[in-house]
Amino acid sequence: MRKVIVAGNWKMNKTAKEAAQFFNELKPLVADVKNAGIVIGAPFTALETATRETAGSNIKIAAENMNAKESGAYTGEISPLMLKDLGVEYVILGHSERREYYHETDEIINEKVKSALAHNLKPILCIGEKLEEREAGTTNDVVKTQITGGLKDVTAAEMANVVLAYEPVWAIGTGKTATPEQAQEVHAFIRGLLTDLYGKEVAENVTVQYGGSMNDANAADLIAQTDIDGGLVGGASLIPEKFAVIIKAGD
Ligand code: G3P
Repeated sequence: MRKVIVAGNWKMNKTAKEAAQFFNELKPLVADVKNAGIVIGAPFTALETATRETAGSNIKIAAENMNAKESGAYTGEISPLMLKDLGVEYVILGHSERREYYHETDEIINEKVKSALAHNLKPILCIGEKLEEREAGTTNDVVKTQITGGLKDVTAAEMANVVLAYEPVWAIGTGKTATPEQAQEVHAFIRGLLTDLYGKEVAENVTVQYGGSMNDANAADLIAQTDIDGGLVGGASLIPEKFAVIIKAGD
C-alpha cells in the first residue's frame, strides 16, 4: 500500500526563528495524524532549527535543493553530506523554479536524484508542464521526458525511496488549481509510465503527489483521486492551521 505524503515547500520563506514558531504551532495540530506522511521543505538556513524542533515528532524535514557532489570548490552550494549531518530526510529536486531560474536540466536533476539516493536521502522529484505545453497537447510528452530523464539509472529497488510530485507549472502560485479530473488524468498516465519502466508492483507503491495551488479548501477532493497520493504545497504550507487541514485530508 503506497503512502500518502503531504509536504510543504516553503521556498524562499521563513527565517530560522519563524520556523521554530511555525513548528510550535503545527505540532499540536497534527499530533494525532497516524497514516499520512508529513514533510516540510525549508530553506537551508532553517534546516537545523527544523530538524531540532521536529525531533521525535511525526514531521520530517526536506531540503529544497542540493548539489550532487559531496564536497569541493562549489561556492554557495550544499552537499548531501551536509544535509544528512543536519538530520534532513528528504530533498525536493527538479522544482520548476529551479528548472526555470537556474536552468536545471533533466540530466543535472538526474545526477542529484542518484546522489540523494546514494546518501540515503529521499528525493521528491518534481515534474510538470508549462501552460503553453498543455495548450499544445504535449503534457504527457513533457512529463514522460522529465520522468525518464530524472529517473535514468534509478533501480526498481531504489524507487521505494523516491517520491514524485506532479506540479503543472500553470497552477503553481496562481490560484488556478488543476481540477481533480485534470490532475487524475496525468497521475494515471504517470502510474502507467512507472509500470512500463519498473513493473506494476513497483509502480503501485510509488507516492505521486500533486502540487499547484493545493489548499485547505481543495485538498480533500484532489487527494481522493485514485492516483493522487498527497500534495506538495507552497503558499498554504506557510500557515500552520491551513497546512494542518491539508495534512488531515490525507490521513
Ligand atoms: O512545490 C510546491 C509549489 O510549487 C506549489 O506552490 O503556492 O501553488 O502551492 P503553491
